[in-house]
Amino acid sequence: MDALRWLARKYHIEIQEMERTPEQMAEIQLSDALYIVNEFGLKHFQEQLFETDEGKSVALAYFKQRGLREDTIRAFGLGYAPEQRDLLVRRARASGHEIDLVKKVGLCSQDGSRDFFRGRVMFAIHNISGKIAAFAGRTMSSDKTIPKYINSPETEIYVKNKTLYGAFQAKKAIRQRDECLLVEGYMDVISLYQAGIENVVASSGTSLTEGQLQLIKRNTNNLKILYDGDPAGIKAALRGLDLALEQDLNVRICLLPDGHDPDSYVQTFGGEAFSKFTTDNAKDFILFKTELLVEETKGDPIRKAGLVKDIVASISKIPDPIKRSLYLKECSALMEVSEQALIGESNKLITTLLKKRDEKAARQPGAASDSPGGTPGYEWPTEPPAVGDPASVIPAFPPRREGEVMTRSDEFQERDIVRLLVQFGDQMLEKEGVSVAEFVLSDIEESLSDFDNVLYGKLAAECYQLILENKIADQNFFIHHPEKEISDLAIDLLTSPWDLSPNWEARWGYPLQNQPMPDLNFDTDMRQALYKFKLRKLKKLCEIVNPARIKTASEAEDMDEVMRLLRIQEKLKTTRNELALKTGNVVLPK
Ligand code: CTP
Ligand code: MN
Repeated sequence: MDALRWLARKYHIEIQEMERTPEQMAEIQLSDALYIVNEFGLKHFQEQLFETDEGKSVALAYFKQRGLREDTIRAFGLGYAPEQRDLLVRRARASGHEIDLVKKVGLCSQDGSRDFFRGRVMFAIHNISGKIAAFAGRTMSSDKTIPKYINSPETEIYVKNKTLYGAFQAKKAIRQRDECLLVEGYMDVISLYQAGIENVVASSGTSLTEGQLQLIKRNTNNLKILYDGDPAGIKAALRGLDLALEQDLNVRICLLPDGHDPDSYVQTFGGEAFSKFTTDNAKDFILFKTELLVEETKGDPIRKAGLVKDIVASISKIPDPIKRSLYLKECSALMEVSEQALIGESNKLITTLLKKRDEKAARQPGAASDSPGGTPGYEWPTEPPAVGDPASVIPAFPPRREGEVMTRSDEFQERDIVRLLVQFGDQMLEKEGVSVAEFVLSDIEESLSDFDNVLYGKLAAECYQLILENKIADQNFFIHHPEKEISDLAIDLLTSPWDLSPNWEARWGYPLQNQPMPDLNFDTDMRQALYKFKLRKLKKLCEIVNPARIKTASEAEDMDEVMRLLRIQEKLKTTRNELALKTGNVVLPK
């Protein structure tokens, strides 16, 4: 925002600013106030470091002993929080800072009587534009029972998973070199920067997040992950790898020699040696995974197959299909497995997953057409409708096989709806001015509780809930969904939205038709899927209500049943009319 205003002023362009709501104003004011308190904190810690005897003899000596120069110490806002119990709070009071704000940024205890950071060297955590968002304090003691680092709490101005340590200092170099180095710790960033390797940021011990990767992606597409070579480092690197692939970053990985982190390596061997080592040893992710595991799998075809699967799973996360196919090719060469087999491997996984879900859905109580608390206005029957009702025939849909339960019948259409939500949910529809998710879900609102497939229904319902909360879920939201079945489903839908055709015929006994084309634009795609979904639900209604059933019920003088059927019939008529209006030329079942 500031940058825009600055540019506008510079080029004499008039910009119209949206009026801020009182809440937005309050938010900005609060943030500004928090930054001011942190700025005060920074000054305090720096003063303590450079201008007090305790600071100089304890903390400054510590930083120097760790190889840091004074210009580096200043550039990163390092400081010292002395042992004294309430020095910062007292000074904050004396300089007129509101103690509530000091509490809020976490610089003092909740009762305002004690400083939060005591006897620690301090690291300022800058946001991307250089303001102080938070602090970390490192103990100088080697006592393992004391936490090594403690951090400010999350606040309006400090959202951990969107903060990358060092990003402010590094961003220029990241752009210039078109590469970002990712390390784990504060000291790693500082030491590398001091050694002239300035394009470096840290995830700060937590596992890398999507928000952090997006910060990187604004400046470069090339990421080099530099982690310790210990098992924890390898694990963290692998996790970061998959996430980075999803963001379509070009990822290379380099593990440091045993016992070293980037800080200790560069302090021991120097910047040049560091650059050489990481250039020589950075590996493309397939090579990395392969080499990491190939030794273990030598001569063991079963484990080798496991490794291939693992790599194929990673490759599937790459959004770009061209890159994906190139990686499959590379993997095939490295692992000495035919490319066709790799493609087959991914299809196999998908099929197995699908089958499992089918079974589960069939077993699940409540998966059938009865829907507790269903659409208001009418109730679903508890028994499946009679097979072979004249009204139940709509060509172009699979005939129900004998004994086949109702639970399966709408799954294909439901899957397609769910695919739309996952794949394009956050895309905006130009004409309607709403997102695909909003459009789709408001259109099928009434059927939301009637999904035959429990999992699909769950995903759609969650999406709907998010919309009610004014949030829109994108692909990564689903891919990283805490519930594994949903994230598996999302990956499935995104990697092979349409390639189920080989199994379709075997499963349903009739050839696949009207499949959306992969290059269809999502608008048309969406309308087609919606139409088919609704037609499908409509068909179900047709099965329930037909003259024969109404007749039977009235002959049995079951007036409740007659009323119920009539209500459904009414609903059916309106829905059919709506649908006919929208689609125009389609002949709908009477
Ligand atoms: N970390 C943390 N809290 C801890 C331990 C670690 O927040 N209790 C984060 C810090 O960001 C730290 C990073 O994890 O920088 C890596 O941890 P570690 O390797 O233990 O520390 P180093 O960065 O190597 O710190 P130092 O070199 O000072 O020991
Ligand atoms: Mn270290």
